[in-house]
Amino acid sequence: MKTRTNDCGALREEHVDQTVTLAGWVNNYRDHGGVIFIDLRDRAGITQIVFHPEAAEAHALADKLRNEDVVQIIGKVLARGMDDKGKSLTNPKLATGAIEVEAHELEILNKAQTPPFTPDEAERTGEETRLRYRFIDLRRPKMQQMLKTRSRVTKVMRDYFADNGFLEIETPFLCKSTPEGARDFLVPSRLQEGEFYALPQSPQLFKQILMVSGCERYLQIVRCFRDEDPRADRQAEFTQIDLEMSFVNQDEVMDTVEGSIRAVWKDILDIDVPKIKRMPYAEAMDRFGSDRPDLRFGMELINVSDLASKTDFKVFSGAIENGGVVKAIRVPGGAKMSRKETDALAEWVKQFGAGGLPVCKVEDGKLTTGVSKFVQEIAGGLITRMEAQDGDLICFGVDATPATVARVLGELRVKLANDLDMIEPGRWEWVWIVDFPMIEWSPEKNRWDSLHHPFTAPKVEDIEKLESDPGAVLSDAYDLVLNGSELGGGSIRIHSMDVQEKVFGLLGITPEEARGKFGFLLDALKFGAPPHGGIAFGLDRIVMHLCDTTNIRDVIAFPKTQTGVDLMTQATSKVDQAQLDELHIKLNLPER
Ligand code: AMO
Repeated sequence: MKTRTNDCGALREEHVDQTVTLAGWVNNYRDHGGVIFIDLRDRAGITQIVFHPEAAEAHALADKLRNEDVVQIIGKVLARGMDDKGKSLTNPKLATGAIEVEAHELEILNKAQTPPFTPDEAERTGEETRLRYRFIDLRRPKMQQMLKTRSRVTKVMRDYFADNGFLEIETPFLCKSTPEGARDFLVPSRLQEGEFYALPQSPQLFKQILMVSGCERYLQIVRCFRDEDPRADRQAEFTQIDLEMSFVNQDEVMDTVEGSIRAVWKDILDIDVPKIKRMPYAEAMDRFGSDRPDLRFGMELINVSDLASKTDFKVFSGAIENGGVVKAIRVPGGAKMSRKETDALAEWVKQFGAGGLPVCKVEDGKLTTGVSKFVQEIAGGLITRMEAQDGDLICFGVDATPATVARVLGELRVKLANDLDMIEPGRWEWVWIVDFPMIEWSPEKNRWDSLHHPFTAPKVEDIEKLESDPGAVLSDAYDLVLNGSELGGGSIRIHSMDVQEKVFGLLGITPEEARGKFGFLLDALKFGAPPHGGIAFGLDRIVMHLCDTTNIRDVIAFPKTQTGVDLMTQATSKVDQAQLDELHIKLNLPER
């Protein structure tokens, strides 16, 4: 005999009169005047089971059933029919709503203790409790759906890339640190006393080496580890769809991976992703203040420095005299905001380096409130430039550092669009950001830093500027952005040892350090490296978009909290002294 003949989502009217065996969890139970109903749940759905007193043994057992008991029933499929008043008893909300199963046998496979919450109550349960009892949380149909979507995405990706000649190749988890910009997780070695492995922040160097090895097309769906603070769309341990190709240019990589995205969106949501437009980095920063612009709404950054320099308003003129800019965004309907609300915005932008947030409103064709009295002489010019209408709010970004203005207004436009409900649901705005500068000056480190990573190739026509004007060198790097979130990033790589050494030099990496850290790469580049490039997508982020959630923890079966803890297994944890001794590790904790 089979443990079950059907799943709990399968039965329809056509199965009426069949005898079936079902198994699953008791989702809930009701006693209607001696007739007991349970909703039996498994991964596929819910089926209503009914126990009549005539099936005495099963009925007596059913009477003791409680939520989350695991049971098996044998019974007959019945049409739901009508009640006494001729009203249909079909439940249109359930896929199996046309039938019920009249049980004549019941076996309790496992009795459950009263759970801290039931799957139905999970939405009203705090996330900490849900993560602590993740095994119950994951029973929810919504979570099962997300796991299913994730599994499906990886299958569609694998099929697509296999069809396009990619080989899946695994790379080590215990490796030497590669600089992707975040902090490494370290693993102490027992055999090499006093030495450490780093967990990979990405397989970047290995996939490049595989190109030098002649593999030509590599794919890996791979866990990456970065010891950085988690955020809504960031975990310390996350998964990349990572690939690399030989003998390709930037367009060939982008076209190939665009095809994979198209295949996934079609398969999961039946949406046709159009040809994805491209926007140079400089334009994205100028118009949206961000290299991952959300194009679902307007509120573009508009440069008003020329107007602002004509006023006596010191906040404006002072910033411009110091080499800065004044930019503004027009918030449609924003004049409705109270003083308290605009003051709160001014406080909020400080985290992005703003000194404050000058604003004014447009009423009866004039600028009012806020800083309006200081800018009256340019009011007409501002209104025209901003194409402002009555009822708008104008917010100014002012700073001696143009990057700060971009950051402040870039973040602000996203916040306002969310707060003021300006984002049309179901809209997908895709864009490739291209032509990134290869390096940018880091005032904190007082040196040049890579925008992507040190292996990103400069554009061929810019190589000669590497020494004369490094800040102006653009790279063959590209990021895929969806609705303001970075789904993936990649580049064409440097495949000549000379250029790689030059770039290391620019980044302040001495030849000795370069040898020590990347000797193997420099060697590989010496012995016949093909031109190559690739990209990595964040799988978690892709699934977040497909499942319409803004919480990365929803799409990971066993995620960590904001403080990097797994509440279910209670990792992190202390380890035995013997384990430490074996590794020659002595803890030197700060006093508390
Ligand atoms: P990058 O660092 O841009 O590139 O990472 C690629 C993509 O991975 C996702 N991602 C993350 N997702 C969740 N949590 C995180 N902490 C996290 N960090 C990154 C993002 C991002 O776009 N080796 C290069 C790729 C290459 O050049 O081929 C790399 O790792 O979606």
